[in-house]
Amino acid sequence: MSLSQSANYVEKILGHSGDSSLEQDISNPSKDPMYADSTGERMKALVWMGKNNVAVTECLKPRIIESRDIIIRVTGSTVCGSDLHLLHGSVMQLEKGDILGHEFCGIIEQVAPGAQGKGLKEGDRVVASFQIACGTCLYCGEGLTSQCQRTSENRTQAAMYGGRTAGLFGYSHLTGGFAGGQAEYVRVPYGDVNLLKLPDSVPDEKGLYLSDVLATSWHAVIDTGVKKDDAVAIWGAGPVGQMAADFCFHVGASRVIVIDSGWRLDYLKSKYPKIETVDYKCLPWGESVRSRLQQLVNLGPDICIECAAGEYAKGWAHYFEMLLGMETDTSEIVNEMITSCKSFGRCGITGVYVGFTNHFNIGALMERGIRLIGNGQAPVQKYWHMLLEMVENNEIDPLKMVSHRVSLDQLDKVYHKFDKKEDGMQKVFVQTKFSSPPTLGSPPLTIFDDEGS
Ligand SMILES: NC(=O)c1ccc[n+]([C@@H]2O[C@H](COP(=O)([O-])OP(=O)(O)OC[C@H]3O[C@@H](n4cnc5c(N)ncnc54)[C@H](O)[C@@H]3O)[C@@H](O)[C@H]2O)c1
Ligand SMILES: [Zn+2]
Ligand SMILES: [Zn+2]
Repeated sequence: MSLSQSANYVEKILGHSGDSSLEQDISNPSKDPMYADSTGERMKALVWMGKNNVAVTECLKPRIIESRDIIIRVTGSTVCGSDLHLLHGSVMQLEKGDILGHEFCGIIEQVAPGAQGKGLKEGDRVVASFQIACGTCLYCGEGLTSQCQRTSENRTQAAMYGGRTAGLFGYSHLTGGFAGGQAEYVRVPYGDVNLLKLPDSVPDEKGLYLSDVLATSWHAVIDTGVKKDDAVAIWGAGPVGQMAADFCFHVGASRVIVIDSGWRLDYLKSKYPKIETVDYKCLPWGESVRSRLQQLVNLGPDICIECAAGEYAKGWAHYFEMLLGMETDTSEIVNEMITSCKSFGRCGITGVYVGFTNHFNIGALMERGIRLIGNGQAPVQKYWHMLLEMVENNEIDPLKMVSHRVSLDQLDKVYHKFDKKEDGMQKVFVQTKFSSPPTLGSPPLTIFDDEGS
């Protein structure tokens, strides 16, 4: 039995804690037609079918269930590095048929009575936050919406972490089991809190990324504490690492060094010539990421930020330990950060880590006074107004990340291409039958043939 299945089994035996204000485990209206729209209308959606297996299927359209729900017609979604952790089965408690996708924008189709008169109405163009927040609990009150205490009641997560995160769209039953937005329609609980109206000046192809990647990378930079003139090292040249680099320059960092391998480093360099790069797979014999970084910056970078993930083992030891279930995450990148960083420097972890790790270099952390910060799931609502303004004023351009426009019908193929980093795929914009034609500066539609090329 897989880790995902056994964790789900335990949760079912224990039962949820019962203290959420939302119905849990409505991960696809077709699984329980009482949660489907009474018209019987069907929609396309991307569902998880098992480890390394996703499929585009026809499901029933969702209906309003809770008093503050909003239903939206999806006009744009994307695939995130976090979705790869679901594809690989690294995140626990997925079930066959769960609709994935936590970054989406669309047009409001229906507003439940409890969400009416709160600024949003039918026909508004909106973007959703990846987390589902209630807006009123202690954490929400402090702007820490990703830690909302009222939208998920998963007992396994509370036992493992000593507390729960907010419910997340399309991100397993560990975070509430909510249907995601890689679909033609989505139900957004607490819609008045979890949707942001987009102005006409911001097209979907830019506004969509307020869902997650912009808030996540901004939070990584601010929460880890990047200051003017800092030298920053970033692990991972995916969309999150890219925007974190962009934001580092924005707050005045003097140098940004990105560590990854292959074409993604060239992609970043082409967009931001000031970036320095380290290809960790092409280091000369005897050199390590640490030695290279300490050559580049005397005594090491002031700040290190992890934008890769704990599931990507570099050496055989961690590969086998993970395979055998002796740990869920490798400590290799975190060890690289804390040994490369300047003494009393700061290291932030934004890439996803699920559980436990071996061989963590606690000695380096203690002796050199390294500040290790878990950045958490980013609290999107805390930042999205400010980030929207930055997009409106052209201070940042999310289109710098977007390499492809693809269709929801082909999203299963896109998952595998994004996973294998094929075709120069950095970040996709996924269109549906409700999308407008591509905006100026956004890539044209790519159609893959049956072989996926
Ligand atoms: N904390 C949050 O709120 C939040 C939100 C969104 C995404 N994330 C996480 O951030 C991470 C990055 O997201 P993304 O969409 O850019 O993902 P991505 O998968 O597109 O990019 C990750 C990059 O890390 C690189 N990488 C792998 N091993 C590495 C190593 N040893 N050294 C350096 N680089 C290495 C990969 O080659 C890849 O280019 C993911 O783990 C994702 O789940 C966190
Ligand atoms: Zn994401
Ligand atoms: Zn809350």
